[in-house]
Amino acid sequence: MHRFLVLGHEAHTSPDFSLDDVPGTSGRIDVLARCAASAFLLSHGIRMDVELYLVLCGPSRPPRTIRMVGAELRHLNPDERSTAALFLRALQIESIAESMSTPGIYVSGMGFAKLLETLGGPFILLKEDGEDMRNHRVPRDAIFVLSDHIDFNEEDEKALMAHDPAVLSLGPRSLHSNQCITIVHNELDRREATV
Ligand SMILES: C[S@@+](CC[C@H](N)C(=O)[O-])C[C@H]1O[C@@H](n2cnc3c(N)ncnc32)[C@H](O)[C@@H]1O
Repeated sequence: MHRFLVLGHEAHTSPDFSLDDVPGTSGRIDVLARCAASAFLLSHGIRMDVELYLVLCGPSRPPRTIRMVGAELRHLNPDERSTAALFLRALQIESIAESMSTPGIYVSGMGFAKLLETLGGPFILLKEDGEDMRNHRVPRDAIFVLSDHIDFNEEDEKALMAHDPAVLSLGPRSLHSNQCITIVHNELDRREATV
């Protein structure tokens, strides 16, 4: 299983954004939509063995966590608009307890610290200045934690560091979050192929 957690610092937690202008009205839910596409979509199919957690921390009722499960997903297409529409539908659900909005997409009122505690690890914090991933053994079912277009703040890092994550880099350039997911998949695919 490949598992990812992306922290959306300003991503709206109410279904109040426009599908005609997702980047401008949603706190950059387009970034999270691209992460979902990179996490699940192959050229002609879907990665079944993937779980993606999106933690949304923007207005107006933070936090919300959207959990996506590859083996159950339906209706995920490469375009950002239709993925944003799935998130819009998930955000119409207001319950704190997790409930399913569409097949493979679950939503709850869980925040970042509580989610880390619930998942328990092992976590891998992706950071530009971490240790090179290529020199590191990755534990089975590790959860790769990334930020969105805004860097992790002190509070985020404190919550994560309490779980003793490995801090790994994917190379010398600062990449977009969805690009990081593609690279991690590729690294893990290659390692799994040689086992
Ligand atoms: C767009 S970057 C964050 C903002 C970026 N640091 C900046 O200065 O604009 C999104 C996230 O992708 C991850 N990331 C980007 N490049 C990386 C790299 N070379 N190695 C590991 N993680 C990376 C980090 O988690 C980062 O917070």
